[in-house]
Amino acid sequence: MQKNLIFYILIISLACHLSTSQSDECFPRLVRLLIGDKYANNSSPYTATLMYQTNSKCLKSGIVFKGKNFETSTVSTIHSDWNDTFCHNKKMCENVIYNQYIHTVKVAVDPQTSFTYAFCADSAQKEGCTEFYTSKMPILSNNDNLGFRTNFLSQLATTKKQATPLKIIFFGDNDLSDAGKITINAIYKIQERENFDAFIFCGDYGYEFYQNNGTVGDDYINALTKINTAAPMAITAGNHEDNFNFEFFNQKFQMPFFTENQNNYYSFNIGNTHFLSLNLHYFNDQVNTPNPENQKNMLKWVEQDLKSVDRSVTPWVIVFGHKMIYCKGSDCQDFAKDYTQFDTILNKYNVDLFISGHKHKFLVMKPMNNGEPANYQISKNNIISQYEGFLTVIEGNGGTSKMDDDTLPDILNTQTENNSVSNSGDFDKKKQKEALLEEITNIGFGVLEIQDDNNILIHSIDSKTLESVYDIGLKK
Ligand SMILES: *[C@@H]1O[C@H](CO)[C@@H](O)[C@H](O)[C@H]1NC(C)=O
Ligand SMILES: *[C@@H]1O[C@H](CO)[C@@H](O)[C@H](O)[C@H]1NC(C)=O
Ligand SMILES: *[C@@H]1O[C@H](CO)[C@@H](O)[C@H](O)[C@H]1NC(C)=O
Ligand SMILES: *[C@@H]1O[C@H](CO)[C@@H](O)[C@H](O)[C@H]1NC(C)=O
Repeated sequence: MQKNLIFYILIISLACHLSTSQSDECFPRLVRLLIGDKYANNSSPYTATLMYQTNSKCLKSGIVFKGKNFETSTVSTIHSDWNDTFCHNKKMCENVIYNQYIHTVKVAVDPQTSFTYAFCADSAQKEGCTEFYTSKMPILSNNDNLGFRTNFLSQLATTKKQATPLKIIFFGDNDLSDAGKITINAIYKIQERENFDAFIFCGDYGYEFYQNNGTVGDDYINALTKINTAAPMAITAGNHEDNFNFEFFNQKFQMPFFTENQNNYYSFNIGNTHFLSLNLHYFNDQVNTPNPENQKNMLKWVEQDLKSVDRSVTPWVIVFGHKMIYCKGSDCQDFAKDYTQFDTILNKYNVDLFISGHKHKFLVMKPMNNGEPANYQISKNNIISQYEGFLTVIEGNGGTSKMDDDTLPDILNTQTENNSVSNSGDFDKKKQKEALLEEITNIGFGVLEIQDDNNILIHSIDSKTLESVYDIGLKK
């Protein structure tokens, strides 16, 4: 009996050893699903972007479908090859040696229909495959759906149909610390219950992302597999990801317009909503000197993008990023000034909402326009209407162990009047107070519920209780 047991253990361990050593090089790791190009550009056939990594080049790797097959692009591969010094704010410097192959496959799956697939070391032979994942892409915008209409009757049906409610989770500033894991588990739980349409990642993940030769960031992506494959993600880099012009981070997430703008700004439509992602830290920050040429291109692109939105098709326009224009806290005095050109463009095109991370709290800033609270109405149950500026909702409370610049006690609470006097034109402590609508210190994340063309609800969920601690709405 005991001999048998030892024998089996030997066989099992030998088998494990063989299979890991054989498949290690090409076994697809860190799998993830992203919003595909078609949501940004109706001429593209590809609705979903699937990404994974391997240790070697692995030209035979790819995806296989279970059940229905879908058209795919050829696999494109980036060699993420680093041997450089990475720092955060000129501190925590480490030499990073990183050598991974990052693969991208674009897929023409049907929106709102589940599809099942695995990533394989050899996709033709179906060898060295991951488990099967089942995902669903959200509704395309009404305009985009035109391409799918086959006859006059279905055209009528689509035109008459009310926009489907959309539910999107957004969160930022999250890592694998004890606090951060509470949010990750909470999102797992709520996703199982409610099936969200998409996840918006507002930056600063698994930081420092580069540490331990990049394994800190990779371990973070790996821990989020269940979220990253349930529904697509849209991601924006945070200030902790700013090394080498965000390249190390952005190589891992190819959002629409990647070749053009490297994830620093891009847009897409889901249903009745236009989403615009802005990396304001790329535009301007206090540590790295901004590049005027890049700034000019970004402003021009953003204006062009917002100008081209057809509000009869996508009545809602939501901007997301890591940093925001308006907030309350130590560095918020600079933001309103640094990003004033964005305030002008966003209000010119009547942007409804700005969601972000960065401040490690839940904060709501009143509808703002040109550095001042704008006119708006607010009902007893917190529904905002007739707003003449965009609302800001900050969920930088994802949970992290890092007590860095962002979480140091607000210098605003300790500084003398001196500062606000010498910066009287800035978004000083007094103005921040005037602009603040709500402030909660907890660990949590946001749920964006786009109910129809006239109503949006935003819930701030506490990661420990899974209860909403604050709800606010926008009504057109
Ligand atoms: C839209 O997608 C098509 C097909 O992939 C491509 O040829 C075209 O350049 C894209 N347009 C833009 C503005 O990206
Ligand atoms: C990294 O760069 C250093 C200095 O250039 C070099 O000595 C070292 O061999 C490189 N390491 C690898 C793994 O390429
Ligand atoms: C990074 O990798 C190099 C080369 O393998 C190794 O010498 C170094 O100790 C690693 N750094 C860390 C923090 O593990
Ligand atoms: C007050 O302002 C002066 C001049 O800008 C500066 O040197 C000084 O450090 C400030 N003091 C405090 C307490 O912020």
